[in-house]
Amino acid sequence: MANKVALVTGAAAGIGAACAKRLARDGHAIGVLDLDEARCAETVKAIQDAGGQAIALGADVSNRQSVFAAAAKLREAFGPVTILVNNAGVTDFTPFEEITDDRWDFVYAVNVRGPMLCVQAVIKDMKTAHWGRIVNISSSGAQTGAINMITYSSSKGAVITMTRSMAQEFGPDGITVNNIPPGSVMGTIMSEANRDKFQFPTEVLLATLPVRRMGEPNDIANACAWLCLEESSYVTGQTIGVNGGRVVS
Ligand SMILES: NC(=O)c1ccc[n+]([C@@H]2O[C@H](COP(=O)([O-])OP(=O)(O)OC[C@H]3O[C@@H](n4cnc5c(N)ncnc54)[C@H](O)[C@@H]3O)[C@@H](O)[C@H]2O)c1
Repeated sequence: MANKVALVTGAAAGIGAACAKRLARDGHAIGVLDLDEARCAETVKAIQDAGGQAIALGADVSNRQSVFAAAAKLREAFGPVTILVNNAGVTDFTPFEEITDDRWDFVYAVNVRGPMLCVQAVIKDMKTAHWGRIVNISSSGAQTGAINMITYSSSKGAVITMTRSMAQEFGPDGITVNNIPPGSVMGTIMSEANRDKFQFPTEVLLATLPVRRMGEPNDIANACAWLCLEESSYVTGQTIGVNGGRVVS
């Protein structure tokens, strides 16, 4: 497959870093986007050390100007952007009656407005190329619902619905849009910071997972890379569960 240019958000750490490195291995030049450039340095270096191409993009996905400036910088460095992985996200464990307007708006700004803005920033490139791949990282919590996670799980539900609608709108332009709702992926900033807030302790969760292991960032990255292949052109609007069997549908 010819080299493409991929923008991966939240790529300084965790699942986003794994997706960025995996897509670089497939020969794509990567825009490593995260809240500030310095945070992106480790992922950029890992890609370059492995012989790949990457640049750091400091941007807040919830901010229109910031996202468009980052996309322009990436385009200038490597060319039109035809792969987008909307991975940046924030979680929330607020019991329902304690949810504030500010917290709700913040989570929705990052998790829902963020992916929408990132698509707006690169969609013209994809339409011009008559080729594009958009992978949105949602959450298995949106499929099952989760206690104390109404803000987060509903925002990720919006990501799943956004995927379906975008797939229909952009399909005629050769652009596929899919989402991956991860199960519990350990070793990320998000999962390690919130271990004590999970609905079930790890041992209990493990016993319910058919594959009997927790997820790793590369589990998600491998599925993401597959969705970005030429061979996946007939897959769009789908929810590709990578969750060890946590959600079976
Ligand atoms: N880890 C899991 O078990 C799990 C499960 C389900 C869904 N997810 C989803 O997967 C994605 C990645 O999660 P992770 O566990 O790797 O998290 P993480 O916290 O390790 O990484 C998220 C990255 O996004 C960045 N980010 C946050 N807000 C941003 C913003 N406004 N603009 C730009 N970057 C921003 C952070 O700086 C961080 O580097 C998230 O969307 C998350 O909701 C994770």
